[in-house]
Amino acid sequence: MDIIKRIEEYRSQEEKLRWEGTFAEYLEIVREKPYVAQTAHSRVYNMIADAGIEEVDGHRRYLFFSNEIYGLDRTLERLVEEYFHSAAMRLDVRKRILLLMGPVSGGKSTLVNLLKRGLEKYSRTERGALYGIKGCPMHEEPLHLVPHELRPEVEKELGVKIEGDLCPYCRLMVEQEYHWRGEDVPVERVLLSENKRIGIGTFSPSDPKSQDIADLTGSIDFSTIAEYGSESDPRAYRFDGELNKANRGIMEFQEMLKCDEKFLWNLLSLTQEGNFKAGRFALISADEVIIAHTNEAEYKAFISNKKNEALQSRIIVLPVPYNLRVSEEEKIYQKLIRQSDLGHVHIAPHALMAAAIFSILTRLKDSKKQGMDLIKKMRLYDGEAVEGFKDSDVEELRNEFPEEGMDGIDPRYVINRISSALIRRDTECINALDVLRALKDGLDQHPSITKEEREKYLNFIALARKEYDELAKKEVQKAFVYSYEESAKTLLENYLDNVEAYCNWTKIRDPLTGEEMDPDEKLMRSIEEQIGISENAKKAFREEIMIRISTYARKGKKFDYNSHERLREAIEKKLFADLKDVVKITTSTKTPDENQLKKINEVTARLIDEHGYCPICANELLRYVGSLLNR
Ligand SMILES: Nc1ncnc2c1ncn2[C@@H]1O[C@H](COP(=O)(O)OP(=O)(O)O)[C@@H](O)[C@H]1O
Ligand SMILES: [Mg+2]
Ligand SMILES: [Zn+2]
Ligand SMILES: [Zn+2]
Repeated sequence: MDIIKRIEEYRSQEEKLRWEGTFAEYLEIVREKPYVAQTAHSRVYNMIADAGIEEVDGHRRYLFFSNEIYGLDRTLERLVEEYFHSAAMRLDVRKRILLLMGPVSGGKSTLVNLLKRGLEKYSRTERGALYGIKGCPMHEEPLHLVPHELRPEVEKELGVKIEGDLCPYCRLMVEQEYHWRGEDVPVERVLLSENKRIGIGTFSPSDPKSQDIADLTGSIDFSTIAEYGSESDPRAYRFDGELNKANRGIMEFQEMLKCDEKFLWNLLSLTQEGNFKAGRFALISADEVIIAHTNEAEYKAFISNKKNEALQSRIIVLPVPYNLRVSEEEKIYQKLIRQSDLGHVHIAPHALMAAAIFSILTRLKDSKKQGMDLIKKMRLYDGEAVEGFKDSDVEELRNEFPEEGMDGIDPRYVINRISSALIRRDTECINALDVLRALKDGLDQHPSITKEEREKYLNFIALARKEYDELAKKEVQKAFVYSYEESAKTLLENYLDNVEAYCNWTKIRDPLTGEEMDPDEKLMRSIEEQIGISENAKKAFREEIMIRISTYARKGKKFDYNSHERLREAIEKKLFADLKDVVKITTSTKTPDENQLKKINEVTARLIDEHGYCPICANELLRYVGSLLNR
């Protein structure tokens, strides 16, 4: 790739997007594409909707978030429906601050960032385009130039709504430079950019106690005040507060409730009617999405203070809990690992899953439902079928604790533990046991864990380990069965010969001695029992197999190992059972004989080729499973 050329291309693309004209020309654009004059809330909503919406089980999934945010579909649905969609329809919620409230490292900043970066991009597309008065410190909507008296007519003519008034700076400019000839005022396309402080801003409280409201609303410009003589001359004021700069887009307000009460009061009265006050000027119109975030403790302290009641009504709170699905949690870890410099290490299959099980268990609340336990609940939440429970039970579980997911272990903590384990072990590969051990060691150092919690968490690690053990055993047995494929075929043939004789009331011939024998009932039953076929049902099952075989024969197809799903399962299970001892011996022996060595190599190769293991973790798995089977 020619990097310089790519940079040039990028620059020329940005150049191409630029547009400059007069207000009169802008009106023609609005006539053709009224959406250029939509509000910031509406633009954010359309950005999300344009990325695509899927219906899943009566819930909406917004693809806009799906590559970055995992397991928070319900939260995102509320965010989009209850906040952005309503706000886009100009309902009252858009005049309130959106407050994301949730536990540390639960994805709040990631969510806001996604919206900010998304809107920067969207403003560069046709559907997301917007325009502003050239030179306005707030890149304000040019339609503010339309006098109030004429707005009803103009709105009807153009099919748009006009809200807000010229900012003090533009008002003066239009008066002095254009003598109120609004049609001549220059307009330009606005390309949102946080770096350039255009329409996207971040406010993070510096010193909460002495926070200056000017950081939000701008301040007097002492370098020009002598020239203009008065603090109320807009030319002697810098409209460069975060609220000014984020006009038309999004302002992120980090850790909002860390701010002093007085400051919040100021802020909230500023934002309440889509206006804010700065210096000695009339109200300034603002069209921006304000998204704040905070943690639960601060939020609780905030609402428990009676004095804050009025403030609360100006805030829309959206709880952002931790993800509660194991499979989604794994995706979060994968993402975090990709983003870190752990990219080169091999993560053994199921290692992240083991950690995810632990994390999710720390976040779940014990249900009072009959027959329910945390592991079952965890499975149900992850969309697995659990015997004795239905979909409606899952819904009930969710409703049992509306605040579930507001505490527990956070994803970043898990990743930190994994990386410290890696450093300590100095290895190229890390497996589930390493991960669980690292998490266990970490419990002693975790700053905010009580003694009881520690006990509870140790138990969760044990549960995660048990889940992993089952999987590990199954995986090894499967790999063994594969290398015993010949045995599976022989077993099948053997079974079919016997079934045929049974159904036809004939005898079978012993392949060695040529002797005639009755069908081997014991063999047939030992296979059928694997899939729960009772003594009473065996005849029907065998006849069904015979019918299947003759159907195949008529069509000229060969009946084989894969031709009958349940029979195959039965054969595999029988093999598992027969092989158990072989696996046990082969995997745990210190000095394998030639034959055993061959099997081990075959199985290892299969684990590597088909199941994502590397030589290190494949061998570790075999040894581990060997020790499990020998217990
Ligand atoms: N549900 C989630 N989906 C995707 N990533 C997540 C999720 N929860 C946390 N993360 C990741 O964990 C890290 C910490 O999240 P962050 O957004 O900083 O949390 P917060 O701002 O709530 O403290 C980020 O890298 C984030 O991408
Ligand atoms: Mg954050
Ligand atoms: Zn202006
Ligand atoms: Zn490995």
